[in-house]
Amino acid sequence: MQLSKLARYGWRAVIGEQHEKRDFAFYVMTQLAKWLDMRIYNKHNSWQDDPEVLAVVRRFDPKYPRIRERHFFLYNMARSLRHLPGETAECGALGGISSHIIMAAFEDSRPHHIFDSFSGLSQPTEHDKPKTESVRALQAGEFASPLERTRQNLAAHPQALFYQGWIPERFAEVADKQFCLVHIDVDFFEPTRDSFDFFFPRLVAGGAIVCDDYGQKTCPGARKALDEAAARVGRKVIHVPTGQGLVLK
Ligand SMILES: C[S@@+](CC[C@H](N)C(=O)[O-])C[C@H]1O[C@@H](n2cnc3c(N)ncnc32)[C@H](O)[C@@H]1O
Repeated sequence: MQLSKLARYGWRAVIGEQHEKRDFAFYVMTQLAKWLDMRIYNKHNSWQDDPEVLAVVRRFDPKYPRIRERHFFLYNMARSLRHLPGETAECGALGGISSHIIMAAFEDSRPHHIFDSFSGLSQPTEHDKPKTESVRALQAGEFASPLERTRQNLAAHPQALFYQGWIPERFAEVADKQFCLVHIDVDFFEPTRDSFDFFFPRLVAGGAIVCDDYGQKTCPGARKALDEAAARVGRKVIHVPTGQGLVLK
């Protein structure tokens, strides 16, 4: 931390205007984050308190504290695909917030298909081992949450259809459908690969697959699976700074 800068900003923070106090707090936090090899967002990004998205997530959980970047991106992606035909799906729903976001963004009653073991993550493979020891390895069984809880959480969306089981066991039940948006959030290599391979051919033109885990250092297998699967159908993954990976049809 540069002491001269700290003193200059610090003094303005004491006697200055509101925005100078905020600039000072931001400067201190940025330096602290840098020291920890982390980074904080630009304080002027308007997405962080977008009223439309905040209202959507608070409908799901009134105590929801702040908009998470991946929820914001998913909502906007979904909203941008509203004009397309086709249904929506999620592989890996946990308590249901991301499914809620998708259905809220579409603002219609098209069916939304939810595939989840509701028993947590499946067995990791070699591909799922993080590259460095400073990153925690996710374990089989993490994120287990009962189906009934998710069903209750999504009670406001009668178009939500549930398929409990290990991916890809129940995909055959929607084999004759077309999709405009599929959200994949299953963390590991095999279910990410199987989800992409099943849904991509069933996307309508202009449709999209969003993979939540693509850029997460905890999920190297998801990234490998998506890169390889996208390459098989002649696509490149768009890696967005939220950590999500996007493949367009
Ligand atoms: C990280 S959570 C999903 C989080 C959720 N999308 C959200 O935004 O809150 C991962 C989910 O994927 C499910 N899952 C993981 N691997 C699976 C597999 N092989 N088959 C079925 N479900 C799986 C887990 O049960 C868990 O609910």
